[in-house]
Amino acid sequence: MSTDSAAWFRDAKYGLFVHWGLYSILAGEYNGIVTDRIAEWIENNLDIPVEEYRKLARRFDPKAFDTDAFVRRARDDWGMKYIVLTAKHHEGFAMYDSAVSAFSVTRATPCGRDILMELRRACDRYGVRLGVYYSQAQDWDDPNGYMQYKDNSRKDFQKYFDEKCLPQVCELLTNYAPLSLIWFDTPMSMTMAQSQALRDLVKVLQPDCLLSGRTGNGLGDYMTTGDNALPRLPYDGDWELPATVNDTWGYNRRDDRWKSPERIIATLIKVVSRGGNYLLNVGPTAEGLVPEPCVRTLDAVGRYVKANAEAIFGTRSAGLYPFEVPGIEMTHKPHKLYVHVLESRVRVELLNIGNAVTGAYLVEDRTPLDVRTYRTCEGDAMVEVELPPRLQARAHYCVCLETAEPEPVYEPIRK
Ligand code: GLC
Repeated sequence: MSTDSAAWFRDAKYGLFVHWGLYSILAGEYNGIVTDRIAEWIENNLDIPVEEYRKLARRFDPKAFDTDAFVRRARDDWGMKYIVLTAKHHEGFAMYDSAVSAFSVTRATPCGRDILMELRRACDRYGVRLGVYYSQAQDWDDPNGYMQYKDNSRKDFQKYFDEKCLPQVCELLTNYAPLSLIWFDTPMSMTMAQSQALRDLVKVLQPDCLLSGRTGNGLGDYMTTGDNALPRLPYDGDWELPATVNDTWGYNRRDDRWKSPERIIATLIKVVSRGGNYLLNVGPTAEGLVPEPCVRTLDAVGRYVKANAEAIFGTRSAGLYPFEVPGIEMTHKPHKLYVHVLESRVRVELLNIGNAVTGAYLVEDRTPLDVRTYRTCEGDAMVEVELPPRLQARAHYCVCLETAEPEPVYEPIRK
């Protein structure tokens, strides 16, 4: 991969993950049995027979899904820069027009819509980057695909890999180009040769398409964290955190454990301040609607993101500031240290910043703010930004400190 292929990714910071498939119909319940696990795993967790599961396709008809409005909302209301759709999740069902398998949205459902193509066109219209999720090792529909928690010892995985996985990946990269990334997942016991074959195929067809960190055998283009697992420290290199707004990826009717907008904003800023991207998930219903509480949260987060876009997109890790200050997170661009204020306060006071601070302003409207730097009675560097009363009364804004030096300089904590 040339460094340039990842340049967009490094700047993009905030993307939309979309988990949508036949599991969305079950919404966490099958034959009166409820799963408390992630809803897209229901076939596996509740041992639904493959023939029964397949019949769900006859009920997939998302009349309420307006692809154009969906992409527009992700871009304009939520402030996201890229979208990743589950083109095929572990269930094995293709959410696109696949010639390789009839178990697909175009051939097995009453709607016959090519959801991925609709997204491709809408993303082109709105200048949003598109990626696909593809479960390369687990395929619970194919007799030779792996299935976690089950006995895989008698499977001819290579056969599945050659006859379904590689040809489908080829279709995706050929018919839905340009894909900005392909999100491989759960490699399980794939061999190095298999991961390499996958990588080679992607790069031959689309050299600039990035591979997620779960390609297997270390062959991805960037680091993917565990689900909802935020690294405590800045991570050196490109990386992405896949995360949920409630506790499931695929739609679960009963899961109302929605995170607050405040919590999502804080996580986003922590991710960005540690150098990564936040890939936040929605699980539409079978009809194609994003649950209302999720929409409200993403709208609220979007307001912060749009007002403070300068302090999020295109920024780099702010390094390891030596203190944890409640309600404060930092991001960085050359000569700028962005201080995100997530809890209300009287003034911004930051110890141990060694930079020469040349000015400060409120990011949302560029109002200049009074800033002074001095040494405390203990001899430590101090930056103080005075906040007008209108700011003291609220939270969720961002102050930019302009610095003479391009990089943040933090003085170590001394005895
Ligand atoms: C997982 C799960 C899955 C989900 C994904 C998102 O590993 O298997 O269902 O798609 O993580 O990160």
